[in-house]
Amino acid sequence: MRDSYGRNINYLRISVTDRCNLRCTYCMPEQGIESKRHMDILRFEEILKIVKAAEKLGINKVRYTGGEPLVMKDLDKLIYETSKLPGIDDIAITTNGMLLSDMASDLKKAGLKRVNISLDTLNAAKFKSITRIGNLEKVMESIDKCLSLGLEPVKINTVLMRGFNDIEFEDFLNLTRKMPIEVRFIELMPIGEGIKIYEKSKMSFMELLKKHPELKQIETQKSSTAQLYKLSGAKGKIGFISPVSCKFCDDCNKIRLTSTGTIKPCLHSKEEIDLRQYLNNQDMLTNVLKQAIYNKPLEHHLAEEKTSRSSKMMYQIGG
Ligand code: 5AD
Ligand code: SF4
Repeated sequence: MRDSYGRNINYLRISVTDRCNLRCTYCMPEQGIESKRHMDILRFEEILKIVKAAEKLGINKVRYTGGEPLVMKDLDKLIYETSKLPGIDDIAITTNGMLLSDMASDLKKAGLKRVNISLDTLNAAKFKSITRIGNLEKVMESIDKCLSLGLEPVKINTVLMRGFNDIEFEDFLNLTRKMPIEVRFIELMPIGEGIKIYEKSKMSFMELLKKHPELKQIETQKSSTAQLYKLSGAKGKIGFISPVSCKFCDDCNKIRLTSTGTIKPCLHSKEEIDLRQYLNNQDMLTNVLKQAIYNKPLEHHLAEEKTSRSSKMMYQIGG
């Protein structure tokens, strides 16, 4: 359906948990987070009710995220049930890839269409340091596995940070020469732990594009958040996602569901609509969701305010 600004909202992103098996420095505090009580987290049956209401309103794309969605038991069942809804034709996940190689095949059987894997560095020691726990090899294994299963397109999300992984820019470009993947460089956003390092780490993609004329721009879908480029002869693509310096609010087609059952019509707005009280009445649920979509805020103010207005952190909303 259309919101009050005429944007076609067809994409629901769902954070199934705020837990994560990693502790990326720009996302989570070192000591981890206080775990929400199980009763405060939506159960899968509850998520499905919301997906069904959303389907009625014209949502046809669903993405499961976290925290880390693969730490949730029965994610494959949720994906299976989602895939049975006739109006939903695209089901994706955003994952850190640590558990994916072992689960990818079952998830595909359940109805998963494609994956976005977060990967900020190709250096094993640096990977350990930014994730505090992770193992690069596991993630690379997962990428290969998804490619071999045809879970395509495999997209890699790389938050580019000055002084951390900017020197690896060309290594990431080169990865697309051999692999049919889409590496998407994402601007660090001043939200949560990211606020602390934002000023010293932020980067301008324009600067990089000027330095790398070998990157040729290719056509991008209107609703895509990424500007796409390609190296000549490469198997994969390169994307630049600039939520701060070049916001895409005008073409935004998403709403988000947090793991505690609130709808966030905009990632960086304070506004949240609690759906829990309507879960036993499908008509009411659909109606409240309809209002939430219709009233989606026009835009965020990250560039001017240098900090997100969201009272939720990225691990509670999903990337
Ligand atoms: N800025 C940009 N991306 C972020 N993510 C988490 N925190 C931030 C931030 N401050 C991304 C992760 C991952 C997804 C879950 O969200 O890198 O790709
Ligand atoms: Fe976990 Fe993703 Fe946050 Fe890293 S960025 S701690 S993988 S939720």
